[in-house]
Amino acid sequence: MGHNKFKRYTVTAALPYTNGPVHIGHLAGVYIPADIYVRYLRSKGRDVIFVCGSDEHGVPITLKARKEGIQPQQVVDKYHKIIGDSFRDFGVSFNIYHRTSSETHHDTAAGFFRTLYDKGVFNEEETEQYFDEKAGQFLADRYIIGTCPNCGNEEAYGDQCEKCGTSLSPTELINPHSTLSGAQPVLKKTRNWFLPLDKMQPQIEAYIDSHKEWRANVYGQCKSWLSGGLHPRAMTRDLDWGVKVPVEGADGKVLYVWFEAPIGYISGTKDLCDPDLSAEKKSEYYLNEALKPTDSWEKYWYAEDTKLVHFIGKDNIVFHCIIFPAILMAHEQYHLPDNVPANEFLNLEGDKISTSRNWAVWLHEYLQDFPNKQDVLRYVLTATAPETKDNDFTWKDFQARNNNELVAIFGNFVNRVLVLSHKYFDGKVLMGSELTSVDRGVLEELKEYPARIASSIEQYRFREALGEFMNLARLGNKYLADAEPWKLIKTDEERVKTILNIGLQITSNLAILAQALLPFSSDKLFQMLNQDKLEWDKAGTADLLPIGHQLNEASLLFEKIEDEAVEAQIKKLMDSKNANELASRKAEDSKPNISFDQFAAMDIRVGTILAAEKVAKTKKLLKLQIDTGIDQRTIVSGIAEYFEPENIIGKQVSVLINLEPREIKGILSQGMILMAENSDGNLSFVAPPAGMENGSVIR
Ligand code: MF3
Ligand code: ZN
Repeated sequence: MGHNKFKRYTVTAALPYTNGPVHIGHLAGVYIPADIYVRYLRSKGRDVIFVCGSDEHGVPITLKARKEGIQPQQVVDKYHKIIGDSFRDFGVSFNIYHRTSSETHHDTAAGFFRTLYDKGVFNEEETEQYFDEKAGQFLADRYIIGTCPNCGNEEAYGDQCEKCGTSLSPTELINPHSTLSGAQPVLKKTRNWFLPLDKMQPQIEAYIDSHKEWRANVYGQCKSWLSGGLHPRAMTRDLDWGVKVPVEGADGKVLYVWFEAPIGYISGTKDLCDPDLSAEKKSEYYLNEALKPTDSWEKYWYAEDTKLVHFIGKDNIVFHCIIFPAILMAHEQYHLPDNVPANEFLNLEGDKISTSRNWAVWLHEYLQDFPNKQDVLRYVLTATAPETKDNDFTWKDFQARNNNELVAIFGNFVNRVLVLSHKYFDGKVLMGSELTSVDRGVLEELKEYPARIASSIEQYRFREALGEFMNLARLGNKYLADAEPWKLIKTDEERVKTILNIGLQITSNLAILAQALLPFSSDKLFQMLNQDKLEWDKAGTADLLPIGHQLNEASLLFEKIEDEAVEAQIKKLMDSKNANELASRKAEDSKPNISFDQFAAMDIRVGTILAAEKVAKTKKLLKLQIDTGIDQRTIVSGIAEYFEPENIIGKQVSVLINLEPREIKGILSQGMILMAENSDGNLSFVAPPAGMENGSVIR
């Protein structure tokens, strides 16, 4: 696998946006695969650091703060803790879970920018950017949505279309509008610093071409980017939440979040390797003191013999495979990413997971409902990992995999071996009669598994690795079922000693191999076997437990999950879907304030519809004759789809009478009928109370 070329590993997992908790999609796509890989490397005795942290800048966070009426810092403080706790509780074994709002990160990111700036890497350019006049703010990235020029998705963001994955700039959007006010933005001049990706294309292309071993989806996306031709990309933004641009004349500007967030991997490493980091910071960053790095931060980032691997979701491919490497290249001192295993997306019960629609299984809620069942979720998410295509998580499948695989195969085997050992031999590892050919066959097979699973993991095929792991459990299960020690015990105790010995040795092998895949079960197994953790390379043999070794008490590894438990989860999702539908019927956003004079300038009167007819050759228009109490006049109104002319004659309505007259389809319309419109788009007249004579003033 070429791993011998590398002395140490720097493994990162995408820094989650700190605008909400993490859900099963995050876990399946990024954090579980990364954790399996890292735990495997550690159990091989490799020098590895595993770095992650909160991505605390960027528009999603400011939008969330606006929505909740609090400061961005309060948002990120809240979710840094919720997310960090979830990862810790699920056993995602980061060395450090850092944050990009930290001083170390601000210094590192600003310093990095300054280095490139001093090298003259950036083009300083004045361009026209969208500006929301109502909000008084430039509209970068997710502050703006519109129609994707590539696939027609009407809700593409200013930086990316989530439907087709294309990365965009706001000016490419068709029919753009502000997510702050809904307003049509205007173009306004501003100065920013651009990374000349166009000029760097040959260099980047050579780099990508040297990595044909990357996953097909990753390599393919890179090639399609390159074939479209790279464009210069602004590395600064006119925003106020982020890392300040460290050059003169850049007031009110911050670093582009996709410039600085990946540098967060480096900042996290710096604090991880800082021997003087305060106890307070260590706890804020979930620093795992049991996993001490052996080298300086520079070694983990500069050295050619460090393998750099980024675990991400597919929406992050271009940023990690093209833009971040380009930034590192421009710096000239850094080692480039060696692999970027990106996963596709996990859906939930047939629907796209969505934080805003609350269509998700949140990790912190899962652990409340299924305490101590981390490995069950880890198992299901790995078994259905979206490695090559999008996949679906369903609660029924979760239940079936737990009951039919974890309980019935792995759990059953281990439990039988341990319980029988206690029952027959007081929990002692013994050895009786000589090995039979069946025994030898099983041990031959056992020998193959560690290398096979390792090879799958080293190729980032975690589903396959888990499948092989379960095959080993199946092997044990079948061996025991065929040998039937519970029958033999009456006639051939010596044979039973041997059978259980082999069963226990397989169990110990499973404990070793589970370290990467199902770490909670691994710990539990080692505990029950009364054995210290063993390294990966010990696996494959049948002499892990010496004769005479005393086992600890047995307990169940997995329990059956009942129908009620998963039905409750399905109900919870349905409830949230219903609640969402209700909430989405919320009233339209308010308009900006007007002065009292502007209000008073409107002359609204009670009037009566005297006559109504359709305007020829139109679908929507009615020509109305109105008695305003002052005069009789014609008004053209766009309500023909809602009312039959004959049904509205004689109705009293509210009329804005001093609206500038306007010709519509050749008819002079002198005013406006006030209508109320609900969220379904249904119209009704704003009817004055009964008994008001025409001409009465409404104000
Ligand atoms: N916050 C981004 C996301 O959730 C990922 C950032 S990865 C980093 O899509 F490298 F930029 F930090
Ligand atoms: Zn698109």
